[in-house]
This record gives sequence, C-alpha cells and structure tokens, in this order.
Amino acid sequence: PGPQLYQQNCAFCHGDNGQGRLGAFPPLAAHASELAKTPEGRAHLINVMLFGMQGPVRVKGTTYNGVMPAFAQLSDEQIASLLNYILNAWGNDKLLPRDHRPITAAEVRSARNVTNRPTPQQIGDLRSRINVP
Ligand code: HEM
Repeated sequence: PGPQLYQQNCAFCHGDNGQGRLGAFPPLAAHASELAKTPEGRAHLINVMLFGMQGPVRVKGTTYNGVMPAFAQLSDEQIASLLNYILNAWGNDKLLPRDHRPITAAEVRSARNVTNRPTPQQIGDLRSRINVP
C-alpha cells in the first residue's frame, strides 16, 4: 500500500511526484535514494518518519528550514512500505546502490524502540553531517 500511504500522508507537502516545493519542502524524487547510500542516511530515512525533523537542510543546492512532523502513528510495516515506495519511485530506483536491500519493519521497530528518542532538532543536527549531492 506504499502509493496510498504516500498520497495520504506525504503528497500534500512533498508533491504528487515527490518533487517537493522549492524552498519550502525538499524533493524526494532523485533524492531519497541518495540518502540510502550510507548507513547513516538509511537510518536518517527511518528516523525522519518516526521522530520528525527540524533545522536547516541543504538539498540539491537549496536550503530548507522547515518542520517535518513525526509519523510515529504509522506501524513499522507501514513506514517500511512507505520508504520502500519512495525509494523506488520517480527515478529513485536508478540511483539506489547496487547492494541496496529493502527497508524492513524490523529495522523500523529497532529505531522506534531506542531508549532515548531523538527530538526533531536532533534529527536535523545528525542530518547536517550526512553529505548528499
Ligand atoms: C524532510 C519524507 C511528510 C515536510 C523530509 C525528509 C524525508 C521526508 C525523507 C528528509 C530529507 C532530507 O533529510 O534530505 C516524508 C515522507 C512523508 C513526509 C515519506 C510522509 C509520511 C511530510 C509532510 C510535511 C513534510 C506532511 C509537511 C507538513 C518536510 C519538511 C522537511 C522534510 C519541511 C525538511 C525539514 C527541515 O527543514 O529540517 N521528508 N515526508 N513532510 N519534510 Fe517530509
């Protein structure tokens, strides 16, 4: 149900085709897959869903400084299928590393069950250390 979950929860901000809105909402098209190239980026994708994100982030030469709400109300399975959907939509599939493996509900569950849950600001701080084009 990745496409429906995307339409219901994400498209309003990130656009029907993951194009985002310049200066307001970062694109996910040709971008989410760049994050999937490192372990830190992969963890970030999951953490953004669970904990939200706040603070300046530079994506494709544009700085965004908004607030992304957490989607912790979605189940581990829903978050995994949502992420696997965006990682394969809108050209993202062609940018995935050759050894990419789909995000599992178990990965989401262990990120959710950390003892000290990060704040949206902390997710933003961690993000600033991840370099993506
Ligand atoms: C950031 C995905 C819903 C607004 C992000 C990022 C991802 C993402 C992966 C991180 C980009 C990066 O670090 O390079 C999603 C998905 C959604 C969703 C899959 C649906 C569950 C929303 C909604 C809004 C929103 C509904 C608006 C209310 C933002 C903003 C940022 C962001 C403003 C940048 C935050 C900052 O400046 O620190 N989103 N998003 N997102 N998202 Fe979403």
